Amino acid sequence: MRTQVVIIGSGPSGLMLGALLSKSGIDNIIIDRVDRDYILGRIRAGVLEVGAIGLMDRIGAGERMHREGLLHDGFSLSFSGRRHRIALKELTGTSVMVYGQTELTRDLMDHREQSGAKTIYNAGNVTPHEFDGEKPYVTYERDGVTHRIDCDFIAGCDGYHGPSRSAVQGKGLQTYEKVYPFGWLGVLADVPPVHHELIYANHARGFALCSQRSPTRSRYYVQVPLTDKVEEWSDDAFWDEIRRRVPEDVAQSMVTGPSIEKSIAPLRSFVAEPLRFGRLFLVGDAGHIVPPTGAKGLNLAASDVHYLFAGLEEFYGEKSKAGIDAYSARALRRIWKAERFSWSMTMLMHRFPDDGEFGQKVQEAELDYLASSVPAQTAMAENYVGLPY
Ligand code: FAD
Ligand code: DHB
Repeated sequence: MRTQVVIIGSGPSGLMLGALLSKSGIDNIIIDRVDRDYILGRIRAGVLEVGAIGLMDRIGAGERMHREGLLHDGFSLSFSGRRHRIALKELTGTSVMVYGQTELTRDLMDHREQSGAKTIYNAGNVTPHEFDGEKPYVTYERDGVTHRIDCDFIAGCDGYHGPSRSAVQGKGLQTYEKVYPFGWLGVLADVPPVHHELIYANHARGFALCSQRSPTRSRYYVQVPLTDKVEEWSDDAFWDEIRRRVPEDVAQSMVTGPSIEKSIAPLRSFVAEPLRFGRLFLVGDAGHIVPPTGAKGLNLAASDVHYLFAGLEEFYGEKSKAGIDAYSARALRRIWKAERFSWSMTMLMHRFPDDGEFGQKVQEAELDYLASSVPAQTAMAENYVGLPY
C-alpha cells in the first residue's frame, strides 16, 4: 500500500489533520490501535478555543458544533468563601465553546467516512520506519498478517503512550516534565448543570470544577490523592465531596444523579523537543501534555495541526520545505505558553500536600489580587480563550 501521509492515531489531532489534507487533495491513511466505539467511549476535554472552532469550520465539520455547542462569555473562580467572574468576552472580545471532545471526534469520524478516506482500526504493533531518510513507511499487524504502508511523511498523532515518540528516543529527543501529586476524579451525569458557566473552586479540601456538556449533561471534577481508586468512590461520596468544595448556594442548587462515567486522570506537564524527526512529526498529546486545569490539551492539538497542515500544504503545493522545517519551532512557541498557563492555573487552584499553610496564603493573596486587578484578569482571560495561532 502507498499513500502520501500516514497518520498514526485517530484522536482529534489525527482526524483534524486527515480532514484538512484530504480537503487539499493530499492522500492520507489513519491507523489506530483500537476501534471507533472505543475512541468515542473516552470522556475527555470539554472547552474549545476559537482556533479549534475555526479549524472545524475550515474542515467543513462544524455544523453540529455550532448548533449544539454552548458559547461561554466567562467563568467563575471560587475561593475563600468568595466568587469572582472572569468576563472573557468583555476582557478579550472572545468567548469559548463548551462542546465535548467525544462529540467533536464523532463529527470528524462521520466527516471522514463520508469523504471516503481510509481509516484502519484495530491495528496491532504499529511502527514507523526509516523516517530519517526519503522513503519512510509504517508497518502494522491485523489478523496475524503484517502490512506495510509506504509514504512521504508520518504524522505521530498517537497520544502520550503511542509508538511515534518511542521511535525517536535516542535521536536527539529532549523531554521536560513535571508530575503533580494528585489526580482529577471526574463524573459525567445526565443532570442539568448547576450554573450556566464553569466554576473553578479553590478549597481547603482540594480543587473542584463544575463543568458541563449540554443543558442536560454535567461534568464535575474533584482533586483526589493519586492513591485513590475510582472503584472506592461511590456516586454519593462524590456528590457529597464536591458539594463541600463549592460555594454554599451552588452546593444547594446542585442536581445529583447516577454517574454515566467516572474516572481518575493523573496530572502532568510534559513537552518533547523537537517535534520533527526527519519525515516524522509529533502532534498533539504525542508531543506534549498539559494538566487539564486550563482546558488546553485538545486546543493545543488543534494548533499543532494548523501549523503542520500549513507546512505539508506548502510542501505539496509550492514544492517548498520551509513550512515543514518551521513546524517544530512554530508549534513549540505556542505550546510553551499554554504549558505555562496550565501550570500556573494548576498551582493557583489546587491543594499541594507539601506546601502547607504558606502555600495556601500565597494562593489566597494571588486570587485576591486577581479579583481586584483588571490587567491580571485580562491576562488570565487572554490565555484561557487561547493565544493566536
Ligand atoms: P489522543 O486523543 O490521545 O488520540 C491518540 C490516538 O492514538 C488514540 O485514538 C489512540 O487509540 C491512538 N493510539 C495510541 N497508541 C497507538 C498505537 N500504538 N497504535 C496506533 N494508534 C495508537 N483535555 C482537556 O482540555 N480537558 C480535559 O478534561 C481533559 N481530560 C483528559 C482526560 C484523560 C484521561 C486524558 C488522557 C486526556 C485528557 N485531556 C483533557 C487532554 C485531551 O483529551 C487531549 O489533549 C487530546 O485528546 C489530544 O488529542 P490527540 O489526538 O493528540 O491524542
Ligand atoms: C473541562 C475540563 C477542563 O480541564 C476544564 O478546564 C474545563 C472543562 C471539561 O471536561 O468539561
